[in-house]
Amino acid sequence: PLKAKIVLLPGDGIGPEIVAQAQRVLEAVASRFGHEFEFSSHLIGGIAIDTCGDPLPDETVAACKESSAILLGAVGGPKWDDPSAKTRPEAGLLKIRKELGLFANLRPIRLFDQLIDASPLKREIIEGTDILFFRELTGGIYFGESGREGSGDTESAYQKMIYSVPEVQRIVRLAAKAARNRENRLTSVDKANVLEPSRLWRSVAAKVMADEFPDVEYDVVLVDSMAMHLINRPKDFDVVVTGNMFGDILTDEASMLPGSLGMLPSASLGDGGPGLYEPIHGSAPDIAGKGIANPLATILASAMLLRHSLGLGEEAELIETAVESVLADGHRTADLARGGASIGTEAMGDAVMKHLAN
Ligand code: NAD
Ligand code: IPM
Ligand code: MN
Repeated sequence: PLKAKIVLLPGDGIGPEIVAQAQRVLEAVASRFGHEFEFSSHLIGGIAIDTCGDPLPDETVAACKESSAILLGAVGGPKWDDPSAKTRPEAGLLKIRKELGLFANLRPIRLFDQLIDASPLKREIIEGTDILFFRELTGGIYFGESGREGSGDTESAYQKMIYSVPEVQRIVRLAAKAARNRENRLTSVDKANVLEPSRLWRSVAAKVMADEFPDVEYDVVLVDSMAMHLINRPKDFDVVVTGNMFGDILTDEASMLPGSLGMLPSASLGDGGPGLYEPIHGSAPDIAGKGIANPLATILASAMLLRHSLGLGEEAELIETAVESVLADGHRTADLARGGASIGTEAMGDAVMKHLAN
């Protein structure tokens, strides 16, 4: 039996609705295996701006640093979209990733057989797809110096894209190690035909692969072309490593392989310390408060939390198997139903819970 402190950061929009379901699932797993999980909930995002004027209060950072792992819902929404506001909910998420040194964002694109017909793509194209993205998460254009110059009709804005040798080395090494435990293939995605940081990325990645991973099959694809290959021949990819912004965009695109953004979990990891787990989707303002959001991405993120931060592989598999069973039983939230019959967020949580009972 294990004792662990788990920090919950529900955030905005559908965040609190989906995190509540994942918490139930974690509690069920704890009681079944005799673990003690101590949960505490803290502010991040828009709700933190409303409550204390800061999208990432110090108190939240302190709680995260003392925890074993963190489960986050989502941040942001139209309420905080004013372009002249001095801060935004998203700044809180970027800051916690940076503060905790979470440079590696793992985004598995895993198909559920039961959902193949929920995908807008053809069965013969997607069947057998299994991709693991490594998105660099604490560098690149997201964290480059930004600003504005001039004003009025001639005003301009800039944001620098910077990558350093060690930043590229560490993410490529992690991705290549993961490839060894899978199909031993790694694809690096960049825009080296245009961008200087991509040219650095490409040469550093090539050297790491040649010097340290000569046994791993390695290739390089330009990001625009990758956007096309992903939906044309997704089965050809095993592990994919890329920079912060390209990884953000390509994984939302890749969510259409399993059929819904509501199915994709992620893990953000650094060098030791607590990991942060979240669905890849956002706060879904269009459906927030309606009780219809799909909680499965967050529930699958909680499985990743058990596996990667707590070393509880068997417990993680139990959750993943429960999700498969629920889908096999025919349960669908609206995003998966494609116009057919659907159930709400809590009912989906109930269905998963049924498969976790002793
Ligand atoms: P979004 O991911 O919130 O939603 C895109 C579409 O997918 C919407 O139609 C939404 O209803 C649907 N969707 C997303 N998750 C779903 C779920 N679990 N179940 C059913 N449907 C789901 O993207 P957006 O609308 O572009 O962004 C909304 C806000 O979320 C923005 O403020 C953005 O900055 C923020 N955001 C936050 C995160 C995060 O916290 N990690 C990630 C992405 C976007
Ligand atoms: C994600 C989100 C975030 C990102 C935003 C909300 C900062 O889109 O987690 O994918 O771009 O990283
Ligand atoms: Mn995103």
